[in-house]
Amino acid sequence: MSNLADKYPRISDMRRRALRRIPHFAAEYLFSGTGYDRAMDYNQEILKNVFLTPRYLKGTVEADLKTKLFGRVYDAPFGIAPIGMTSLIWPGAELSLAKLASKVNIPYTLSTVACASIENVSQHLDNKGWFQLYPPKDKNVRDDLLKRAYDSGYEVLVITSDIPASSRRERLRKAGVSVPPKINLRTIFQAAISPMWSLGILKHGMPQFATMDKYQKSQGNEKSKKGYAGSQMNRYLDWDYLEEVRNIWKGPIVLKGLMDNRDALKAKDYVDAIYLSNHGGRQLDIAPSPLQVLPNIRKDLGDEFPILIDSGFYSGQDVVKGLILGADFVMIGRPFVIALAALGAKGAAHAHYIIKDEIENIMEQVCTKNIEELKRETVNVGKDFFLGSLE
Ligand SMILES: Cc1cc2nc3c(=O)[nH]c(=O)nc-3n(C[C@H](O)[C@H](O)[C@H](O)COP(=O)(O)O)c2cc1C
Repeated sequence: MSNLADKYPRISDMRRRALRRIPHFAAEYLFSGTGYDRAMDYNQEILKNVFLTPRYLKGTVEADLKTKLFGRVYDAPFGIAPIGMTSLIWPGAELSLAKLASKVNIPYTLSTVACASIENVSQHLDNKGWFQLYPPKDKNVRDDLLKRAYDSGYEVLVITSDIPASSRRERLRKAGVSVPPKINLRTIFQAAISPMWSLGILKHGMPQFATMDKYQKSQGNEKSKKGYAGSQMNRYLDWDYLEEVRNIWKGPIVLKGLMDNRDALKAKDYVDAIYLSNHGGRQLDIAPSPLQVLPNIRKDLGDEFPILIDSGFYSGQDVVKGLILGADFVMIGRPFVIALAALGAKGAAHAHYIIKDEIENIMEQVCTKNIEELKRETVNVGKDFFLGSLE
């Protein structure tokens, strides 16, 4: 890793190279938020308001990053968040990321709308995979997806709650993003000036909704097939639906996308963990950062109930900030895909190395032996961290 670490010591150092290698329409899909990108930008701004005040004279320690979640010990307190259509951004991405996660013993979450199927990806996950469910309106489809995921050995189910409606995604509209990609002069030109991406498409095939394919089979001509895949992405979720899933899925369930402490408290009776997220700023542009709501939600839920978080965590520093503010686990979305696009599979491995090394370095600087100790370190926040209340 040392050469890479000299050239790309931070994830942000890989961004420019990734942008050069991905066609514009796919880059827009990865990098955009929604609306005016305010929530997406704010996620990163807010992290600048979180500090750890170190205490010393505790000797020198070797940091142990192992983290227990749902009875399994992972090698680090972070995992890979679900990214739909990842192969549109970088061909073969789902398989690359699943293989990496399995090798380095962190969780990989496969999206319902991935370009590789539940069954295909499971072959690289050693029964340690997480499956993310966009709750389909059609309960037959839901039940079949759950059965496929369970039978393929996925261990944890992540249900995404923050898409009651699609967001406007203005940048995606302008860039003309679709799956499979539209073939017109503009996209052909963009692909032609991204030769590594185009070669990847030749090798891995045109991106499709591989898991959802099965439900398109019986649906008439090409046009209505695409329409059917789209319609399955109309979702519905309420507490009763969640209860039904609870009765079907035998493993741990994580509820993703919560932001409000009343929802969090209620969720405690339905699921095994909550996952605070504003979808990387891609859904509600006027949402706060999940980091800002974390401390109060942790207070309300008590110390034991697992809380995961994502949205804007781009470094080991950021992961540490999530942990000291009360999260048990931090999920990371765009950074792994950026690294993959910049440098291929070795880039994704490098992103993992950077994040882990940064966490280790911080822990050793503040003399904390393990993650539990780290979580008890003194956290300070700047005044811009707080959400005002009108009450
Ligand atoms: C391109 C893209 C596609 C995504 N697709 C999904 C998805 O299919 N399911 C889901 O629950 N979240 C999805 N998300 C949200 C991520 O799981 C995660 O919440 C978000 O990326 C975290 O923010 P970060 O990218 O700043 O780390 C997607 C995010 C991006 C950037």
